[in-house]
Amino acid sequence: MDLSVTIGRTTVQNPVGVASGTFGYGSEYEQLIDIDSIGALYTKAVTCTPRPGNEIPRIVETTAGLLNSIGLANVGQERFVTEKFPSLRQRACAVFVNVAGDVEDDYVRTVEYLEEHAPLSGYELNVSCPNVKAGGLAIGTNPQLVEQVTARVRAATDRPVIVKLTPNVTDPAEIARAAETAGADAISCMNTLVGMAIDVEQLKAVLPGKTGGLSGPAVRPIGVALAYRVSRAVGIPLIGIGGIDGPDAALQYLLAGAVAVQVGTANFVDPTVTRKTIDGIHAFMQEHNLHRVSDIASLLR
Ligand SMILES: Cc1cc2nc3c(=O)[nH]c(=O)nc-3n(C[C@H](O)[C@H](O)[C@H](O)COP(=O)(O)O)c2cc1C
Repeated sequence: MDLSVTIGRTTVQNPVGVASGTFGYGSEYEQLIDIDSIGALYTKAVTCTPRPGNEIPRIVETTAGLLNSIGLANVGQERFVTEKFPSLRQRACAVFVNVAGDVEDDYVRTVEYLEEHAPLSGYELNVSCPNVKAGGLAIGTNPQLVEQVTARVRAATDRPVIVKLTPNVTDPAEIARAAETAGADAISCMNTLVGMAIDVEQLKAVLPGKTGGLSGPAVRPIGVALAYRVSRAVGIPLIGIGGIDGPDAALQYLLAGAVAVQVGTANFVDPTVTRKTIDGIHAFMQEHNLHRVSDIASLLR
């Protein structure tokens, strides 16, 4: 049985990764789980310059989920290279750097800088951030902007480029096709959904920025439906994300057409959830006498 999955020129040892922003840069979880046994680590977003992030509170618990408004807090690309890269390069698992920015040029600058100073397995482009030039519209909501940024990043690296979709659009499949046209190696889907919680006693939004990104089991059926739709719209692999908290949820995504998955919010509840998910997928493949992870999708009736 072969649990490995290929994304661009990188082969990951199993289909279960940890989602950006929920696993830091790995070291935060070192005492809790054997990080080298996971399929892939997607780092916290890295931007050209350091970002302090948004006002607190940045996270609020909701029914079966979390609302977050972190504001891409991160140390910036230079400190990423000096402080985070040395331990990340030692990892036996694949490491994809999640790259974010205000404008297209920011993504290109960061990828070029990391190519030179911190080459890892590849890049995941977080195109859900507000784009300053496009009047605050997220790049990921516009197929043309996605195509442009993907093409420019593609030209800057031979490593795998994964474009991470936002679900906050009418047709994510159209955005995925734009990324594919521009040369993306894979699509990861999905980022958080816009949500809001109001404190009824204090008569104000719980998050200082009013709205935040909803994640966790509450969003899973939306993510599974997107994996089903988007995987049929493109020829490149789809990595499923959204509310995965164990083998059953991960298998729903793999049956829907994803070739791999990422576990996000569930890491906060149980840091060993990734290991349990890998073991559960392995057991499922054994039970159904499957040889490759991609065989799982063919079981869907
Ligand atoms: C606290 C927190 C921080 C996040 N930070 C990032 C980030 O920096 N870049 C990114 O692309 N996605 C980020 N995400 C989105 C997750 O990677 C993931 O796409 C989303 O949470 C859905 O998966 P889940 O339901 O398993 O958490 C963040 C999510 C959470 C909860």
